[in-house]
Amino acid sequence: MKLIIDTDPGVDDAMAILYAAAAPEIDLLGLTTVFGNVTVETATRNALRLVEMAGLKIPVARGAKGSMQIPMMTPSAHVHGAEGFGDVPAAEPEGNAIDEQAAEYLVRMARQHRNELVVCAIGPITNVAQAIQLDPDFATNVKKIVLMGGAVFVPGNITPVAEANTYHDPHALNIVLASGADVILVGLDVTMKILCTADDFRDLEHHAPEFGGFLRRASHFYLDFYRTVVGIEGCGLHDPAAVIACTHPELFAIETHRIEVVEDGAEKGRTLVCQGQQGFPAGVCVGGNMDQIKARFMEISRTNP
Ligand code: RIB
Ligand code: CA
Repeated sequence: MKLIIDTDPGVDDAMAILYAAAAPEIDLLGLTTVFGNVTVETATRNALRLVEMAGLKIPVARGAKGSMQIPMMTPSAHVHGAEGFGDVPAAEPEGNAIDEQAAEYLVRMARQHRNELVVCAIGPITNVAQAIQLDPDFATNVKKIVLMGGAVFVPGNITPVAEANTYHDPHALNIVLASGADVILVGLDVTMKILCTADDFRDLEHHAPEFGGFLRRASHFYLDFYRTVVGIEGCGLHDPAAVIACTHPELFAIETHRIEVVEDGAEKGRTLVCQGQQGFPAGVCVGGNMDQIKARFMEISRTNP
């Protein structure tokens, strides 16, 4: 599967990218970066580092530094650490981002791989919305847009009703939903039902000393956030679940609902199920085989160096 990951790395973004790099059925064409867990500058540096760690020769295109309409928000340093990888110090990549902006790169790749390209957005979905605005054919050129976002039938994680990625750019998600593209939401409805624990990260380090070791060190701070703030032992398998949903939708229970995102006010970022002609149809992951999704993540990630 030809895949582009749009990302704000981020600990679970790193898990998703290193998974995708190792998954034999994924042809990872490139990464695009976006603000969110960190600034877009830090996201771009982290994405370049991950690409180099994985030994991939793929482009990284820098994207949006803020959302479409909401004033700049502070990155989630308390969740992912100031540099994005917990308390692992920042490391400078050798390479640079390409000159093309993320939205332009997405448009070009969707034209080049018409009906083949899947875009997996695991941060605020601003770049994808910009690509839709840039090219009226983008939504039909892409095969599918799978996003980590939303909390449709469950509580939010950044506010009581909103998931972080949708909260950071609700207008962008409404543009994506309205575009007519085939959109799948992999939200907290499933990702909080699949936890990765300290033991899982130790297991990854044992089997894949380089990548697993990096993830174990990076996850330390992240797991601490889940323990002290959320009150659970383990982190949600957010971004990796979205990547797995791209290639293995059969592992998920997907319902079609008309969805609209609340754009402002106390419920900003809430993914609402609409009746009648309100909202736009999207596939919503509401459950699935959690054990198999996690087993797949572990099995493939263990094959990393
Ligand atoms: O709500 C979880 C999402 O927010 C994940 O994409 C995580 O990386 C953060 O961006
Ligand atoms: Ca993310």
